[in-house]
Amino acid sequence: MALPCGVLLQRLPTVSEPRGTLIFAEIAQHLPFIPKRFFAIFDAPEHETRGRHAHLVDHEFLISLQGTWIVTLDNARTRQTFALDTPDVGLHIPPRVWRSFFREGAAAVLASLSSETYNPTDYVRDYDEFVRMMRT
Ligand code: TYD
Repeated sequence: MALPCGVLLQRLPTVSEPRGTLIFAEIAQHLPFIPKRFFAIFDAPEHETRGRHAHLVDHEFLISLQGTWIVTLDNARTRQTFALDTPDVGLHIPPRVWRSFFREGAAAVLASLSSETYNPTDYVRDYDEFVRMMRT
């Protein structure tokens, strides 16, 4: 499902068995880039906002492995807030999209696959600067 800001919600295949449930994602079919990096966020205090940045080049694919994450996306023209709350949905955030998110409710784990290795110069962390960049 396409969202404003060029963001895509990608349904992931689920294999449910009495032994447990498995999800997977493959390049091209579900994952729009070959990841160079993985990170995950857990033990986040409820309602403590994280993110608050955009990337210049990096694509991210976020999956809520556990719990509910309230995600806000913003491209300096439209803003959308929604819950990422199931492991069988991946959220592809392309570059030049401002994102912030926080945990709501019980313990939660957010996983990310990223198209680039960590590079602090790929971040825009000032919202006014982001808006200026998007208008030029
Ligand atoms: P930060 O970007 O502030 O996290 P968030 O956007 O979720 O609030 O990152 C927190 C710290 O972790 C910061 O010191 C940078 C470091 N970090 C890495 O070293 N490598 C990574 O891949 C990421 C995402 C963060």
